[in-house]
Formats: sequence, structure tokens, C-alpha cells
Amino acid sequence: MKLFIDSANIEEIKKANTLGVLDGVTTNPSLLSKEKQEPVAQLKKICKEVDGPVSAEVIALGSDEIVGEAKKLSKLSSNIVIKIPSTVEGLKATKKLSSLNIKTNLTLCFSASQALLVAKVGATYVSPFVGRLDDISFEGMDLIRDIKLIYERYEIKTQIIVASIRHPLHFLDAARIGADVATVPFAVIEKLMQHPLTDIGIKRFLEDWNNLKGK
Ligand code: E4P
Repeated sequence: MKLFIDSANIEEIKKANTLGVLDGVTTNPSLLSKEKQEPVAQLKKICKEVDGPVSAEVIALGSDEIVGEAKKLSKLSSNIVIKIPSTVEGLKATKKLSSLNIKTNLTLCFSASQALLVAKVGATYVSPFVGRLDDISFEGMDLIRDIKLIYERYEIKTQIIVASIRHPLHFLDAARIGADVATVPFAVIEKLMQHPLTDIGIKRFLEDWNNLKGK
């Protein structure tokens, strides 16, 4: 499973990149607004920092406007992927962008029927949001299972990005189900390698080693 970082913060992206496990970045308007920088300049910086795909979201809602904005954003860097809401207008725009070989990530996906339709218009990625479904007492991971089943049944090439990840178990479940990508906030990435028994084990090994030195 590929690991993307869900962040627009350069320091977080740099730190995650040094781990050697980072495959890409997803941003959204809320994440970019937290950075208090001009968003296009920030996106350019992010694209320079990583080799993998960087999702940049359109603000436009009408299909023609989405296509216009996507064309501009795609010129920022060769690794830009255009993030588009999973709406009727988003579908029309994605169909057009697919014909222009512009990569897309259909975001705000909350149902398997949305995921099937975005695949039919050639979306490169679909982003179902598990955390936001959990927040309203729906099992977010059930949606990932449904989409995976449907995509396998019809040999669909659209890649599933598990988004709105809130904790390490979301990441683990995404891998168990066989999602293509998990996009993970930095705070959760940091937790993925943590284990108290690893820390206790290191402490004990060092204590035993130091006791031996006295012999
Ligand atoms: C990813 O593409 C989304 O932007 C992100 O995962 C949303 O996460 P949130 O629900 O924690 O805001």
C-alpha cells in the first residue's frame, strides 16, 4: 500500500520524506489555509519537495470552471493531480480531463455508487473519507470494502485512496482490505512506528550491555 501524507505543511512533508516511505501528498483547501501562505506558491514548494503525486483541489463547482482551473493547476508541476469533489459537475469535468490525460483524484466520496461512477469517467484516484463517516456513526471502513469489491469485480483501474484517516487502526485496516493508498496526517504517521515494547526492549538491551562492560 502506498503512503501519502495528508498535509500542506512543508516541515511535516520534509520530515515524512526523510523516513524513506513517502509516496505522495494530498492537500485540500482547509489544509492550505492553515499554512497562511499564498496557496499556489505553497503547492509549487510541495511539488519540489516530493517526486510522487501531489493532489491540489479545485475551488470551482461548475464543470467548465473545474476544467479551466484544473488546466491551470496542472501546469504548476508534472506531479500535480487535480482533486475534484465527487459531484455531477465533477463527473463531467473528470470525463473531459481524462481525455486530456490530466490525472484526477475524486474527493469527498461517501458512497460506493459515487466511487463506481467516478471510475467510469476515468478518475485516476478516488478518495473515500473514513473518519468523517465514523464521526456520524457509519462504518467508514465498510465503504472501503465495498469499493474494493466492486473495483475488483469489474477490473477497474481507479486507485482507492483511504482518506480522512484519524488513527493507526485506520491505516492498518486500509492495508488489510487492500486499498492502493492511505493518505495519513503527520501526527498519525509518527505513531505508526511507535511501540512501547520496542522502547522497553531497547532499554533492557542497553542496560544488560552496560552491565557486561563492568565484567
Ligand atoms: C484527503 O484527501 C482529505 O483531504 C483529508 O483526508 C480529509 O481529512 P479530515 O476529514 O480529517 O479533514
